[in-house]
Amino acid sequence: MTESDTGVHRSEMFPTDFVWGAATSAYQIEGAVQEDGRGASIWDTFAHTPGKIADGTNGDTATDSYHRWNQDIEIMKRIGLQAYRFSVSWPRVQPNGSELNPAGLDHYSRLVDGLLESGIQPWLTLYHWDLPQALEDAGGWPERDTAHRFADFAAHVCDRLGDRVKNWITVNEPWCTAFLGYASGEHAPGRREPAASIAAAHHLMLAHGLATSALRTRSDGNIGVGLNFYPVYPASGSAGDADAVRRIDGVQNRLFADAIFRGGYPADVLADLAEVTDLDMIRDSDAPIIGAPIDMLCVNYYSRFTVTADNTGTGSASAAPTDVGSAWPGNDHISFVANGLPQTGMGWEIDPGGLRDMLIRLSRDYPGVPLVVTENGSAFEDTLVDGRVADDKRVSYLRDHVDAMSQALAADVPLTGYFAWSLLDNFEWAWGYNKRFGIVYVDFENQRRIIKDSGLWYADLIAGRAMS
Ligand code: FCB
Repeated sequence: MTESDTGVHRSEMFPTDFVWGAATSAYQIEGAVQEDGRGASIWDTFAHTPGKIADGTNGDTATDSYHRWNQDIEIMKRIGLQAYRFSVSWPRVQPNGSELNPAGLDHYSRLVDGLLESGIQPWLTLYHWDLPQALEDAGGWPERDTAHRFADFAAHVCDRLGDRVKNWITVNEPWCTAFLGYASGEHAPGRREPAASIAAAHHLMLAHGLATSALRTRSDGNIGVGLNFYPVYPASGSAGDADAVRRIDGVQNRLFADAIFRGGYPADVLADLAEVTDLDMIRDSDAPIIGAPIDMLCVNYYSRFTVTADNTGTGSASAAPTDVGSAWPGNDHISFVANGLPQTGMGWEIDPGGLRDMLIRLSRDYPGVPLVVTENGSAFEDTLVDGRVADDKRVSYLRDHVDAMSQALAADVPLTGYFAWSLLDNFEWAWGYNKRFGIVYVDFENQRRIIKDSGLWYADLIAGRAMS
């Protein structure tokens, strides 16, 4: 029986302690890149390099949330958010990647206090892609030492905020940093070095493990990692396409999750990657560090992939705004094809059933760990008319993915929360400001925030008023 049969309020399909939140990240919203001793990050350098960002913009001002965090909290209260996921800018805390800048933590301390005073749980991401430029100059993520530097950073943040922050996400989407940052070059630091990207992937996982242990000794909170999962389907029934699915699923989904929950990287994926580079950056002693127990698996879900080994597709998982290399080292023979589903403004296929299936799969493949959807959302072309943004397509996207979660819960998936991406329209990386993901519209001329219809729908859902 569906909810429309019963007339049950949508939010009543969820456990009463289910957490409803929204997410952002530091470089995408803060601005204030020169303030209070902040150092440069790789995204400052990259965004200021001509030709890297589709609309020629950067995060110098963004949504100015470094100054307007109070206003942001007011908006969160109007929506009724129970939790807010944000990230800490590493170069504010360690401007040159090592020495501590206590002033850089003051902002987050104020933000956390403000959230708690408003009854909103702070969910803190440590790494959402803004590596201090000084650490990139020393080699970046392909260097093992960067993982140790990250554990120091985690310790500093936890020493200051661990008394108040009870939910920690170490690394957000290591796949993106490793393969968009160091293989395709679509993201900072814009390197196109397939072998280095594989080293980066390993060191990001090591960084997660080392940070987990630094947090564990300092905090009684929940610790998780944010992975971006995509269901992968074959374009045809051919053996070649089945192998393409195995390979893309392997490097996108299993590589990271198996390392954490199954004691090591999957053997078939290692064999694929060994076609690109020797894997001697992986030491035997790393596996137990990376596999240290965590308290939640943070799932970022946007879309699905359909792949073929026939080389008839686009060659890329999604359109890139600038000229880029392959994000799939060793898998250049595989192409990505559209599968007839409606798409978002990013050209990403909309597949809510894929979220349900992925949550069910994760709960079976990696049993015993709670799942949280820490990102899910869509960009569409929004227009502000008479003070209103009627973003019907985003409302549908949100509603259909919420329904997919209720189906996963009905299948006994231990799902504990959901964070809409994003609270605010913001700097969408290589695309700049033209791709709006917010449930709140930002007028970048004057920084005015206007809750979109999707944000109002979400407010109703949280308040238990959204009817089917
Ligand atoms: C995710 C990122 C997030 C945002 C969304 C659209 O991969 O984590 O910062 O850009 O995509």
